[in-house]
Amino acid sequence: MKKRLVILTGAGMSAESGISTFRDSDGLWEKHRVEDVATPEGFAANPQLVLDFYNQRRRELLNTQPNAGHIGLAELERDFDVRIITQNVDNLHERAGSSHVIHLHGELMKACPINDLNTAYDISPEHPDLHIGDKDANGVQLRPFIVWFGEPVPMIEPAITEVEACDIFVVIGTSLNVYPAAGLLNYVRRGQPIFLIDPKVVNTYRTDIHFIRKGASEGVKELKELLRPYAQPQ
Ligand code: APR
Repeated sequence: MKKRLVILTGAGMSAESGISTFRDSDGLWEKHRVEDVATPEGFAANPQLVLDFYNQRRRELLNTQPNAGHIGLAELERDFDVRIITQNVDNLHERAGSSHVIHLHGELMKACPINDLNTAYDISPEHPDLHIGDKDANGVQLRPFIVWFGEPVPMIEPAITEVEACDIFVVIGTSLNVYPAAGLLNYVRRGQPIFLIDPKVVNTYRTDIHFIRKGASEGVKELKELLRPYAQPQ
């Protein structure tokens, strides 16, 4: 029976693919006010600005590749039952080959009607932009399938269930600043090994964490070595 490896990732996971993080210097929030582009109030005040913000990030994603860190995590599925819980809205984990990905904050390549945040439609790479006037079959305006600040995080329950069941927990590329995602750390049972990959120090109350002070690509390589003793013989 393969051990259950649960991995929480954040923007740092995609940094080496060229996608800006949020709170690093020159991060995304350096260029935009959260309230203008990542809240329901911002969308109500200026829907075109918000649609354009995500259209730009979606076009950027179409020219972006998974990095060695994403690929390394997909390869871990050979020896572990891997579940990824990501705060990222990009699809780089899936494109690297990971087969169980929970998106806590939504998905850039999907849209939903403004009156039903749980019904998601794929956005085709051929027509990556959302515009005012783009509607679903019921004639309701479409918006990005993104969890904005102040909105519910429906995937947090399944994520908690995964963390409570894990044998090993890994955190990669997140400052653990945003809840409820950051609170997942509280659900790791005592005694289960926790690894954290980040080039900077990440403040956390837990003292039972093995820190790997590296970027995602190099950090995942080191993680794979550290995980060898836990891998089930085939
Ligand atoms: N490899 C790994 N980690 C990295 C790298 C890298 N190459 N470069 C930077 N990091 C780390 C930073 O040190 C930081 O700890 O990634 C983390 C990024 O933190 P944030 O920018 O705060 O991103 P994140 O934690 O994912 O933000 C959570 O906040 O703004 C909202 O919804 C948004 O999902 C996002 C959430």
